[in-house]
Amino acid sequence: MLVGFIGLGNMGSAIAKAVAKVEGTDLLLSNHNVAKASKLQAEIGGTLATNQEVAEKSDVVFLGVKPYQVGQAIAELAGSINKQAVWISMATGVALADLEKLLPGHSIVRMMPNTPVALGAGMTSFTASDDAAKAVFTKLMVYSGETVEIAENLMDAATAVAGCGPAYVYQFIEAMADAGVQNGLARQAAIKMAAQTVLGSAEMVLKTGQHPAELRDAVTSPGGSTIAGVVALEQNGFRYATISAVNAALARNKELG
Ligand SMILES: NC(=O)c1ccc[n+]([C@@H]2O[C@H](COP(=O)([O-])OP(=O)(O)OC[C@H]3O[C@@H](n4cnc5c(N)ncnc54)[C@H](OP(=O)(O)O)[C@@H]3O)[C@@H](O)[C@H]2O)c1
Repeated sequence: MLVGFIGLGNMGSAIAKAVAKVEGTDLLLSNHNVAKASKLQAEIGGTLATNQEVAEKSDVVFLGVKPYQVGQAIAELAGSINKQAVWISMATGVALADLEKLLPGHSIVRMMPNTPVALGAGMTSFTASDDAAKAVFTKLMVYSGETVEIAENLMDAATAVAGCGPAYVYQFIEAMADAGVQNGLARQAAIKMAAQTVLGSAEMVLKTGQHPAELRDAVTSPGGSTIAGVVALEQNGFRYATISAVNAALARNKELG
């Protein structure tokens, strides 16, 4: 299967790295700034191409340009698009209905990935125009991490939680590390401790299937130091700050969309 990419910035290249691992795929890589595509090609293979070549030859096209660039990028290809190709857009806020107008008759997927896709640890929500598009998409994303099909009206919520979420988690890791440094740990050691703690705790949630509150209860002994830390987080509005962050991102998504 020939899989083309138009737009290989942060997210397009993260997806390309995951798709390159799927057996039976050949990649066509196109980016405005060709140096970016060449650098990626050196890492994952594939063939450099123009947008026209990607549109003409690919069985599947991943569109990785900024949301405001989507209309123009597709319009420039009019007449040279393979009529059978499945198109997959990662553009935040660009609705399936808008994509269908730009690409009439095509099977289309709208996806919302996050950057850990590059390491095979992403969380991608998607909505597809039909079952054939869904099947191709889930096959190509098998090395990207987790994928979940959702109703399109939940895409803004998924974006605010998982698309934007890595930034909140990085901020938490940085804050934990700052506290470690304040208390004498070397910066690198503190970052590693904080990041591994987030990773391990997330795995506990996913692998045990227990509610996060149950897991937290299991590590807060009566009168102990952990409950003192948990209470300090609550006193400082940690839970509400997190909910507000997701809601602010969601509101901004709606403004931008
Ligand atoms: N970053 C995230 O965490 C994230 C999460 C979820 C979804 N997304 C979505 O992913 C998409 C890409 O975001 P990004 O963060 O990867 O942005 P980015 O780093 O700016 O990447 C966009 C890339 O598209 C290229 N480009 C623009 N117009 C083009 C065209 N007509 N033909 C070929 N290449 C073109 C740009 O090339 P130049 O470098 O030459 O300008 C750039 O490399 C966006 O729609 C965004 O909403 C991003």
